[in-house]
Amino acid sequence: MCLSLETHPNSLTLQQPIYSQPKPNLNSTQLEDYSSCSGNNMAGTSPHAVLEPLSKPVQELVINGDELPQRYVCKAGDGVIGASFPLMDVPVIDLSLLTSSPDVGEAELKKLQMALSYCGCFQAINHGIASSFLDEVRGVAKQFFALPMEEKQKYSRTVDDIEGYGNDTVLSENQTLDWTDRLYLTTYPEDQRKLNLWPKNPESFREILHEYTGKLRMLTEHILKAMAKSLNLEENCFLNQYGERPTMTTRFNLYPPCPRPDLTLGVKPHADASAITFLLQDKEVEGLQVLKDDQWFRVPIIPHALLFNVGDQAEIMSNGIFKSPTHRVVTNSERERITLAVFGMPESDMEIGPVEELINEKRPRLYKKVKNYVENYFFQNYQQGKKPITAVQI
Ligand code: OGA
Ligand code: NI
Repeated sequence: MCLSLETHPNSLTLQQPIYSQPKPNLNSTQLEDYSSCSGNNMAGTSPHAVLEPLSKPVQELVINGDELPQRYVCKAGDGVIGASFPLMDVPVIDLSLLTSSPDVGEAELKKLQMALSYCGCFQAINHGIASSFLDEVRGVAKQFFALPMEEKQKYSRTVDDIEGYGNDTVLSENQTLDWTDRLYLTTYPEDQRKLNLWPKNPESFREILHEYTGKLRMLTEHILKAMAKSLNLEENCFLNQYGERPTMTTRFNLYPPCPRPDLTLGVKPHADASAITFLLQDKEVEGLQVLKDDQWFRVPIIPHALLFNVGDQAEIMSNGIFKSPTHRVVTNSERERITLAVFGMPESDMEIGPVEELINEKRPRLYKKVKNYVENYFFQNYQQGKKPITAVQI
């Protein structure tokens, strides 16, 4: 992870240098090809070999009315984009029931286990975070992205770091860029916060982000325990792999209206590198899609819910019982969309692996033990167009 604290003074005026990178040899009909991946659209990650300076914010392309640059046009491996896809019946889980009286709790735990094994995600309701506070979180995100470009660029990421304001890290010449601008910040451990990249404008931004992610930290514990119990395991068995100083990173995503939603993706197909992800969706504008049995489904909006999904590291810890879903974001030509993804994962030097109780004759060990999945496995593979989790499969 690059720990440089400096922000790039004027990264947007630089010319793009020529470089070369081997093109992954992939079958373009496979939906799960990661062939046109961008460098940093994953959880808690920083790239390895950065090959060119920051590109122009997508927001500026829109303001200037530029034609869709070729670099945003997706390739066949990302699947059909412009079609209308069915809505997914994403299970809704009442988090307050998971710890309530034994009978009710049992039924909700069963539902949780089925949701995470079936589609790898659920809509969490009764999570204890007030809707008015979720609106405040959405509010600061919206206000930040609405600031003048010079103000936002005070928090620009450097070319070799993913933290800060910016967009895709360019890792390969034929990389398709995502139609999104983002603000990426580490929130835990607290001593790893790069506060110079935390906006001071709007004024309440820092406090709200601190409070929101603090609440999600508590929810994380609650859910990881429930995930273990839902598999009849001792409740701390996933948490034990988390270590004392688990990592939490956040990504504010802005998807400006796009002139060619049929050719472009807000985020290309990927699975999160995290253990678990909480997504605060835009209240009005849809865009997220999940791949299930080779078919894309739209994820519905429930304004007061948090969308929870399994990331690769929880798939590994559960020996493949919980599924880290492949998902993507589509764009539209009418309205901007703003979301906030919060990625939780174990302390980076903890060794994680399938919980022993989940390995047996019927279900042999599916994954190796791994340390620092993000740095050691995720990037190299993603960069080479491979699905990262396959690198740790036995
Ligand atoms: C992500 C992601 C989905 C969305 O940031 O990893 O998948 O709807 N975001 O913004
Ligand atoms: Ni994601």
